[in-house]
Amino acid sequence: MTRSRNWRCPTVGRVLNPEQLREFAERGFVVVPQAASRDLVVAASGVIDELIAAKPPGPDVRGPYNYFTESAREPALLALLTESPAFVLAENLTGPGTLEVPWHVQVALNIPSFPHRPGMHHIDGAPGEADGRPGTFTMLAGVLMSDQTDEDAGNLWVWPGTHRRHAEYFREHGPDAFFAAGGYPPIRLPEPEQIRGRAGDLLLAHYLLGHNIGGNISAVTRRAVYFRIKRFGHDPRWREFLRDPWLDYDPVRAALA
Ligand SMILES: [Fe+2]
Repeated sequence: MTRSRNWRCPTVGRVLNPEQLREFAERGFVVVPQAASRDLVVAASGVIDELIAAKPPGPDVRGPYNYFTESAREPALLALLTESPAFVLAENLTGPGTLEVPWHVQVALNIPSFPHRPGMHHIDGAPGEADGRPGTFTMLAGVLMSDQTDEDAGNLWVWPGTHRRHAEYFREHGPDAFFAAGGYPPIRLPEPEQIRGRAGDLLLAHYLLGHNIGGNISAVTRRAVYFRIKRFGHDPRWREFLRDPWLDYDPVRAALA
């Protein structure tokens, strides 16, 4: 019996509810279950299989192993974002029509056995880009491509609420403190959490949310696909964005008002 025609993920709306908006505002991230359909996940998984076959990790590689590619070259990967509700859900946080479709995509593996526990967080974008601008962006969208319902299974670690603490840090020290911090602004850290979910689940995370790669003591290589998304006009406003976490997020600002 084939299940492909009858199997459908639970219907995912294209609207974040007020609780999810509040959660993003307070914690800096939200996980939307089953945002990408099984068909999209299967097609993208085939591309990941091809990437691995073309450039396999060495036999001794453990822990993180990444592939970076142009999204236009791999439409089945980009479809996870643009052919699912994911992109519209992301724009729920920034406003309709505000986000650029990202030109690049990351496939992130975490190969067991990797008994690692990150000691601290980081934010992306250091040391910076060729033009001297830090590599800031608006939002990370991650689609889980393998089940990671347990902890220490290659899950991404996040430090909830650190998007606001980082913004406080840059308000106090100035946005150019980004360069000295080198991706590790010295803020007070809360307890971390590991992102858990199933293949097809969507993580939306604020750029300023502290995060890091976790360990993997499961039996399975963990897979995820990450998109770094900017709001139109983000780049020249990076200094303001580091100090004002809701600069790119009008609906979130309105919800907090
Ligand atoms: Fe990162």
